[in-house]
Amino acid sequence: MAKVKTAHFCQNCGHESAKWLGRCPSCNEWNTFVEEVISKGKNEISVFSKNTKRTAVPRAIHEIQDIPQQRVQMVDMELNRVLGGGMVPGSLILFGGEPGIGKSTLMLQVAMQETRQKILYVSGEESEQQIKMRAGRIGQLNENCYLLTETQLESVFKHAEELQPSMLVIDSIQTIHTEVIESSPGSISQIRESTAQLLRFAKQTDTPVFLIGHITKEGSLAGPKVLEHMVDTVLQFEGDRNHVYRLLRSIKNRFGSTNELGIYEMLGTGLRQVENPSEILISNNQDKLSGSAIAATLEGLRPMLIEVQALVSTAAYGTPQRSATGFDLRRLNMLLAVMEKRCGFKLGAKDVFLNIAGGIKVNDPAIDLAVVASILSSNEDLAIEKNICLSAEVGLSGEIRPVNRIDQRISEAEKLGFDKIIISKDNKGIKQENFKIEIIGCTRIEEVLRELFR
Ligand code: TYD
Ligand code: MG
Repeated sequence: MAKVKTAHFCQNCGHESAKWLGRCPSCNEWNTFVEEVISKGKNEISVFSKNTKRTAVPRAIHEIQDIPQQRVQMVDMELNRVLGGGMVPGSLILFGGEPGIGKSTLMLQVAMQETRQKILYVSGEESEQQIKMRAGRIGQLNENCYLLTETQLESVFKHAEELQPSMLVIDSIQTIHTEVIESSPGSISQIRESTAQLLRFAKQTDTPVFLIGHITKEGSLAGPKVLEHMVDTVLQFEGDRNHVYRLLRSIKNRFGSTNELGIYEMLGTGLRQVENPSEILISNNQDKLSGSAIAATLEGLRPMLIEVQALVSTAAYGTPQRSATGFDLRRLNMLLAVMEKRCGFKLGAKDVFLNIAGGIKVNDPAIDLAVVASILSSNEDLAIEKNICLSAEVGLSGEIRPVNRIDQRISEAEKLGFDKIIISKDNKGIKQENFKIEIIGCTRIEEVLRELFR
């Protein structure tokens, strides 16, 4: 009998070691090593037909034919967009997100929409009845969608070979296990080997495979980084579970840019595509309220107008509180320091609370100026006109810095009916005559204030 081989794996980053270690040398986490059986001594079994295997030969790069990348256009336009213009046959797509965010809902919805494709939906988490009930709630049942409640990979492949689906969904990779490896489902070596086999399946049969993967509390894809390099595309589903909006981002994409962003709204009847994000991110409240400013931001390549809300009040107890939702707290502290030091606003003894409407998270520096404006508006208790929006970065000396793709931002603001947009004067090449909206270029925060609170 062949020898049983074991190794120790870090459950956080997948680092492999022959012996147990207290601290992982790769990610520096303590006490994460677990012994896993990596082979029962059996040779690896390939469960799908070997004769489909292509043999590769080295070839000069100029001799390689240009075959335009075939893409399958899906019904879900947001998904098409994030994948870089449709699904590529034979691609392995990892779809991550926190538990309960709506990954299964989105994949099931896609499975119900794609009536032209034969879909195999493998679930190791829910029963057939549960899935059917949910599918019924989401919309029309797709007769071409097959459900398989199975966690054993070899058996999944057996069914896939019989059924010949044009798309395979695995919900989730953490529940799948392969016979080749002894350790329990969800362990690093199981996830890694199962993904490797699914990758081979995708490439050899030209079937796109979606892998749903749960994200750990720390925010990394569980079975963490080990999967990211194996798959073609990593999509991440984000959002605040208490809010209805969900963002679909691509973190890695071998077939397109990672700049794209998809937006959904979670309804009782599934996820609705949000084509015009700005409309939902700005409150329709017509009353003039202090502490609110609108920023023209860009998420990836998608312009969005977002409402920033601030509340500044005198700190009741010694240390003032600073809190930010959807915005980096360190950046907020930096902006507060700039306002204090460069513009002379006494905010040191004030509590400052900042909130980005809609529960979404913004990384675009162009939101800085709106953050500053909302804080000052709340501090002075003066409302900013509803028809003004802002788009610029704020530097350490209080200067207003230019941001990229300003014309796209201006067009979006114009489209949504704003009358004025405040940008940096250093944003060159913007011609007022090309736009109906009034463009105001500023270089210092004081100038912006004069524009806002005249
Ligand atoms: P689910 O897709 O099961 O999450 P995941 O697979 O990422 O763990 O989504 C679960 C949540 O979505 C659940 O809390 C209820 C909500 N939901 C709706 O609001 N509307 C719907 O139509 C569906 C199907 C789910
Ligand atoms: Mg799920």
